[in-house]
Amino acid sequence: MNSFLNNNFIKDYDSQHFLHPWEDCRTDNSEYKIITNSDGIYLFDENGKKYIDGPGGMWCVNLGYGRKEIAKEIALQCEKLSYFSPWFATAEPSALLAKKIATLTPKNLNTVFFTTCGSTALDSAVRFVHYYFNCLNKGEKKTIIAREKGYHGSTLLSASISGKERDKRVLDTIVSGIKFLSDVNPNLRGKCSEQEWCNQKVSELENTILEIGPSKVAAFVAEPVLASGGVIIPPKGYHKKTYEICKKYDVLYISDEVVTAFGRLGHWFSSEDVFDFTPDIITCAKGLTSGYIPMGATIISDSLIEDIKKSTHTNDLLFSNGFTYSGHPIASAAALKTIEIIEEEKILDHVRDITPYFQSRLNKLGEKYDCIGDARGIGLLGCLEGYSNPSLDEKKRLEIDHHFGSLIDKAAEKRGLLVRPIINMCVFSPPLIITKSEIDLMFDILDDAVSEVEKNLK
Ligand SMILES: Cc1ncc(COP(=O)(O)O)c(C=O)c1O
Repeated sequence: MNSFLNNNFIKDYDSQHFLHPWEDCRTDNSEYKIITNSDGIYLFDENGKKYIDGPGGMWCVNLGYGRKEIAKEIALQCEKLSYFSPWFATAEPSALLAKKIATLTPKNLNTVFFTTCGSTALDSAVRFVHYYFNCLNKGEKKTIIAREKGYHGSTLLSASISGKERDKRVLDTIVSGIKFLSDVNPNLRGKCSEQEWCNQKVSELENTILEIGPSKVAAFVAEPVLASGGVIIPPKGYHKKTYEICKKYDVLYISDEVVTAFGRLGHWFSSEDVFDFTPDIITCAKGLTSGYIPMGATIISDSLIEDIKKSTHTNDLLFSNGFTYSGHPIASAAALKTIEIIEEEKILDHVRDITPYFQSRLNKLGEKYDCIGDARGIGLLGCLEGYSNPSLDEKKRLEIDHHFGSLIDKAAEKRGLLVRPIINMCVFSPPLIITKSEIDLMFDILDDAVSEVEKNLK
């Protein structure tokens, strides 16, 4: 069968049988491209067209594609022990990985609960919080405080603590026991200073805890940087102050580092190293295996484990939450190799070195084009947000608002760069191995793409 026929079959099979994430069931996806190959920061489609992978897969392929060392480790582990039941037994790579992660986290987070992805890491974090307070005879503490624009996953529970309104329009979520705080985006602060904005947001958390009653609030869940909400970086000092509020009212802090852990901001974890606070629980996934194989983790602080050990509860205290694939040996082997490469190739140093250049190229785009309202980022995370000039007629303005992301996406893709469009934004998080000349290539393409979009919008 020649590849032309083959590709047509693939597209047919896909369009008839593969329901993709975030897809409208009425969409005809027969035009989707087929990704066939990869190398470093590049992807290739069925026609051999080469693309820079701007979003690094889905914020996950931190070490880039085609890493033979990871492939080899996966194959070796596959032959040696492809699976073990994590109920009442362990396996070498899983135990080694738990120990290794404990050495990379802030020093008091040493217990690792392995999950299958980010969503199940968040589910497990929330379930652990409930378990913890039940064990301590504080079963009334149930409410989870989350934030607008936060994203924590796609299971019913993790979607319910996510605050992206659009995602709740046709899908139901749990509403009881979950409370949302308003958007922290400093761009919305109008005339108030960043410090005042920060204080307002911190007070909102405190007032919400007081309204519900501290004896009923279990945890606050927050991404250090709201990634798919549009790379929103909360105001300076926000993380530490919200953490202090949580401590004041015996509320646990879950820091969702599914995107920010394993190097995205130049550190293993960003909560302590970048934002100066030490959460009670950290969730991670994605970069843990550099996207080579699914895996996530919920990392729990010593004090929570010690409190449970001291519990006088008369029932047994099973944490009856777990997955067939918790601590999967092949995923663990891939994660160990990923961490080893990050160490050997000094990837964290590289990210810290290259970040100022990446961010300066991003800022220049924001300054150059009227159609960009904001260009923001941190580490190797970036976002371009569209600006719709009030002097344009309304139809045009709506067009910009609703299509800015996809217009940039199309213009960039044509030129060999993939970005991730989100309504009036497009975000990117390239593999961490990206070099200075590849950053230039990426932003030169984006520059061209934005220039085309701006011309068409006038
Ligand atoms: C911050 C954050 N948390 C959790 C998740 C869910 O992870 P997964 O898609 O692996 O379930 C994501 C996914 O993008 C995320 O960005």
